[in-house]
Amino acid sequence: MAVQRDTWRSRPVFIMAAIGSAVGLGNIWRFPYVAYANGGGAFIIPYLVALFTAGIPLMILEFGLGSMMRGSAPVSLARIKKGYEWIGWLAILVGFLVIVYYAVIMGWALVYFVYSLDLSWGKDPANFFNQSFLNLSSGPHELGGIRWPILGAAVLCWLTIYFSIFRGVKTVGKIVMWTVPVPIILLLVFVVRGLTLPGAMEGLRYYLTPDLTALYNPQVWLAAYGQIFFSLSIGFGVMITYASYLPKGSDIVNNAFITSLGNCGFSFLSGLAVFSVLGYLAQASNVAVEKVVASGPSLAFVTYPAAINLLPFGARVFGALFFLLLLTLAIDSAFSLVEATVASVRDKWKITRGKANLVVCFVALVFGIIYTTRGGLFWLDIVDHFLNNFVLVLVGLAECLVIGYVFGARRMRSFVNEVSDFTIGVWWDICIKFITPAILGISLVWVLIQRITGGYEGYPGWAVLLGGGGIVVLAVTLALLFSASRGKESD
Ligand code: ALA
Repeated sequence: MAVQRDTWRSRPVFIMAAIGSAVGLGNIWRFPYVAYANGGGAFIIPYLVALFTAGIPLMILEFGLGSMMRGSAPVSLARIKKGYEWIGWLAILVGFLVIVYYAVIMGWALVYFVYSLDLSWGKDPANFFNQSFLNLSSGPHELGGIRWPILGAAVLCWLTIYFSIFRGVKTVGKIVMWTVPVPIILLLVFVVRGLTLPGAMEGLRYYLTPDLTALYNPQVWLAAYGQIFFSLSIGFGVMITYASYLPKGSDIVNNAFITSLGNCGFSFLSGLAVFSVLGYLAQASNVAVEKVVASGPSLAFVTYPAAINLLPFGARVFGALFFLLLLTLAIDSAFSLVEATVASVRDKWKITRGKANLVVCFVALVFGIIYTTRGGLFWLDIVDHFLNNFVLVLVGLAECLVIGYVFGARRMRSFVNEVSDFTIGVWWDICIKFITPAILGISLVWVLIQRITGGYEGYPGWAVLLGGGGIVVLAVTLALLFSASRGKESD
């Protein structure tokens, strides 16, 4: 029996949902620490190159593919050729494996929202985060038991995610009308607050001074492409799924530009908010900017509280607003990742939305328990790095090759040009067929060799093999298995 596919209520609702998916923890939690790990200001150039050669072109590709094929990522790719369905599943699995830890970070933000009401982190936020909050174990070999407040908060976040997509695009459409504007307003408050603090300019100088020597480092390139994919929610199957809910003949190109530039504008503003505060923190602690930052995923939970402590007035209010900002940013990205998975499961096995929602949310919550343990942060760091730098980039590469060479870049371009407010030229074909695959292919191989020979961030080899190699193998194997499974006949 043919099932009527849901559609967005209006174009603004679709755009809000797409921006809501793109703008998330990636902009304010992940972007600053990835930028730091890859040379600070040096990161901006590869990041912008990645935006224009891969981010926007792939956003057009995913919107075009979803809108044309009218299916979730695996179905859309299978409609090009059955043999490519696994690429769609790989995209979905990356998104799924990301949401597993993404929801735990939302849990951290929720607990910190409560902590901010009386600045519980005290005078040493780094020590508080590592010892009192995470009670970090001695390394990835020691999981050390569950941190119950974190698991409790993650469960609350999962309930929110579950109800947000309860009725698919209908509920999503209503929620994004709040969860997109609220963080924008909150962020503007933080930009103004940050820029008016003493020392802010020093932080901005670090953020905005490009260093051309970083361009020679393939790791920086791969990180920039990985971050663009993560931040724009491309390569997760989300944008393909969201576009599949567009009415026939909807604009593609303009919507893709609005979403991509809106997201990166938000990232840029987040950078202003974060780095101005870092400048302030550096001045107040009398050290250089590059010395004040807690590296890795704990940045937002250590550095920001440290800065909040030093605010001359309203520390509790700004603390609470900051974690509210993180939560409102994260929720619409989180449910978009779940929705992409739910839609794929429903398309393939024809089960009801209610059942698919419940199963996906529950399984993800259970998988996420590992990140709520005392050793969870180590695994989160390793899995995040390998998923986004390798599997996500691999999906982007595969999409470029399939659309560029099998389906035909020109054919897709004619389709999107026909329905869009303005058209794209042959530059798009060049990005999809040559530039992006070349940069991704070369940096993937290069960084892979480095990881094999040099490991990752000093973690023991077995942990990198299990958390990094293991997650790559798991994602690829499941993708192949799911695509080989018979499923139910498509309508
Ligand atoms: N695009 C989402 C984010 O940036 C996943 O957080």
